[in-house]
Amino acid sequence: MSKIRIYSLAKEVGVDNHRMLEILDGLGVQYKSVSSTIEEDTVELIKQILAEEGTDATGGQVSDPTPDTEVAGETPEPAAAPQPTPAVQTAAPTPEPAPGQMPSEGRAVPPTPTATAPASPATQGAAATQVEERPTAPAEREVPHRAPVVTIMGHVDHGKTSLLDYIRKTKVAAKEAGGITQHVGAFEAQTSKGRIVFIDTPGHEAFTTIRARGANVADIAIIVIAADDSLMPQTREAIAHAQAAKVPMIVAINKIDLAQADPERVKTDLTQLNLVPEEYGGDLVVVPVSARTGEGVEDLLEYISLTAELEDLRADPKGTFSGVIIEGKVDKQAGVLATVMVQEGTLHIGDFLVVGERYGKIKAMTDTGGGRIKEAGPSTPVQVLGFSDVPESGEKVVSAKNEHAARELVDARAGQRRDAENARVRNRLTLEEMMGP
Ligand code: GTP
Ligand code: MG
Repeated sequence: MSKIRIYSLAKEVGVDNHRMLEILDGLGVQYKSVSSTIEEDTVELIKQILAEEGTDATGGQVSDPTPDTEVAGETPEPAAAPQPTPAVQTAAPTPEPAPGQMPSEGRAVPPTPTATAPASPATQGAAATQVEERPTAPAEREVPHRAPVVTIMGHVDHGKTSLLDYIRKTKVAAKEAGGITQHVGAFEAQTSKGRIVFIDTPGHEAFTTIRARGANVADIAIIVIAADDSLMPQTREAIAHAQAAKVPMIVAINKIDLAQADPERVKTDLTQLNLVPEEYGGDLVVVPVSARTGEGVEDLLEYISLTAELEDLRADPKGTFSGVIIEGKVDKQAGVLATVMVQEGTLHIGDFLVVGERYGKIKAMTDTGGGRIKEAGPSTPVQVLGFSDVPESGEKVVSAKNEHAARELVDARAGQRRDAENARVRNRLTLEEMMGP
């Protein structure tokens, strides 16, 4: 073994990826993402640094980015100047990776309490206490991580649904087994790395309409490309959508079980779009998979959680609720059903929701497995019963304290819209007057 990927090394030596990138920055080592490979010499150096940290300073703060000066001249912030931790709201600017790239800006992500907390054996005991005592505003720690929301896009028949089916079958919690799964275009998977939320986007319509309304629900886009077909028109469209949304992209080359599969061709074709796979020296994460045999699916999930970890996704379940409509439809029996993605705060049965100029009271909620639930926190897609009109994909949802507040908000919005319309009519008249007969 002469080279190793950054995240593999991090795992091997028991530090998290943020910390590993800090060390690499300290050493002035160039990398593109956590899945970039590093040389054996560097690996040795890193192990040395970690070993020294482990013995120095009475057990050392493994989380403290201060490698010995003899090893690295330009180290990141010393511990004496703790960095501001990320803002409380998720709305705070997070570093945006360039389209089609793994978020390599690990260095731009300020160290967070959770990033520093996971302890290698060396930080147990006294050292662990030291870590906890580092000055950090308490409010800032309390915004917890949230699950990543992943959109699957790609050309017709390239295997998007099959891939999701494979993940769902093997990963979704047992409660699904008995119930009939309703198709709500979204589902949650429990993986070894935690919860991941997937959105199936037939023909990317949902993705595009949601974006057209200025909302972004996806944190990561998976572009599925069949290995026997390579890039097709809708593949290019899907890539363009992901790039426009500035969402980190992972390519899954599917159907590698087929005899005629040619993953190398897919990679070459991608390169022609200026999307250079890592193994060709670029930033694009490409994972060969088979939705049929399941090969590579575990790797794909691993890459998703790595990407999510670096994005440092957070939301406050106790904050003010906000969400986005994923889809709305009329069910003959149930009535109007809307799938809502909870982005901030928590939804409860009985809450009043306002969408555009309509409101409704939540009468019932089901999770994506069809099970009845009473509340739903951040990054949870839920099907809500209680609207009288069908809301549209991408519409933003807020909550109101009671019916009175909901109606006031709706009235205010209607008033604003009428004013804007009147203004437009007036402007048109003036223009016509000016042009004259
Ligand atoms: P649309 O929703 O119509 O855009 O298609 P999709 O991308 O969801 O493709 P779908 O999952 O429906 O798969 C299309 C066909 O490819 C089906 O016949 C699948 O059985 C087959 N298929 C999907 N994944 C694989 C795979 O990994 N290997 C093989 N051999 N066949 C696959
Ligand atoms: Mg499909």
